[in-house]
Amino acid sequence: MFGAVRLLCLKLDLLCQLLPRRGLLLPSRRLLGSIIAIANQKGGVGKTTTATNLAACLASQGHKTLLVDLDPQANATSGCGAAADSLHMSVYEVLLGQVGVLDSLCTIDIDLFHQFHLLPSHIRLAGAEVEMASMVGREKKLAESLKPAVSEFDFILIDCPPSLSVLTLNALGAADSVLIPVQCEYYALEGVSKLLHTVRLVKRHINSCLRVEGVLLTLYDERLQLSRRVVDEAKKHFGEAVYSTIIRRNISLAEAPSFGQTIIAYDPASTGAENYACLAEEVVGMRSSALPLPV
Ligand SMILES: Nc1ncnc2c1ncn2[C@@H]1O[C@H](COP(=O)(O)OP(=O)(O)OP(=O)(O)O)[C@@H](O)[C@H]1O
Ligand SMILES: [Mg+2]
Repeated sequence: MFGAVRLLCLKLDLLCQLLPRRGLLLPSRRLLGSIIAIANQKGGVGKTTTATNLAACLASQGHKTLLVDLDPQANATSGCGAAADSLHMSVYEVLLGQVGVLDSLCTIDIDLFHQFHLLPSHIRLAGAEVEMASMVGREKKLAESLKPAVSEFDFILIDCPPSLSVLTLNALGAADSVLIPVQCEYYALEGVSKLLHTVRLVKRHINSCLRVEGVLLTLYDERLQLSRRVVDEAKKHFGEAVYSTIIRRNISLAEAPSFGQTIIAYDPASTGAENYACLAEEVVGMRSSALPLPV
């Protein structure tokens, strides 16, 4: 079984040039208006869990954060407690230019400071691909729509659908960087090679500034030898691009969305809350360390 993992990793070697040493990943890091797409076309790897809880943790650490739910499944929207059915405005209308992004936001009440905002999704978004098919520059629609929000937020996180569709291309077209969650399981690395290939194409044709933010290992179960093996293989092949923070499998993370809550509201003392708080610190720390020293 591990032989197959190794074989996949060999293919990944060719793609590792996209993942230089961590210190070089984001040469022009800025704290204000960093747009991070959370993407992996493989389903169920923890994209939405990461997007909602990383956004919540960044906000609770004082960074004004916008979460963009770009998945027609609207899991991030419901997971944050916004009732999709009652929403008149969503990312769909914003993407099609029918309404401005700043007029379409919901505030998520996780703290007293109202630092966490959501651009919700709706099942209507499922039709967007067809409607956008004949549009000129359709891969840059989200980038254009988000422009007014860039100066308003420290971080803008985009939760992508599990596909390499025009929606995901829009996210990569709008983003400064892409964060790739990788589930600690068999075949986990297979999807990453396809995604890195897409990132390379997007960089060449749509968004030359796009960088890989980092590879995040998720759903880690320390009791499983396979989990430990995937961590070792990922570190071997992606090196410093792998976050030091590993997201463990944690029941509270699975339960929180069904209560329409992020992990901070649902179970702030859980391992899941601790893991995502560490990830938020790591994401911010990467930027701070690259900024020039104040004179
Ligand atoms: N660390 C974790 N511990 C326990 N359960 C988790 C964890 N991360 C994610 N889950 C659960 O795994 C499932 C898939 O997670 P999630 O929805 O975040 O993945 P996804 O990549 O967004 O899926 P999709 O590709 O369908 O959008 C969900 O039921 C979620 O609650
Ligand atoms: Mg999802």
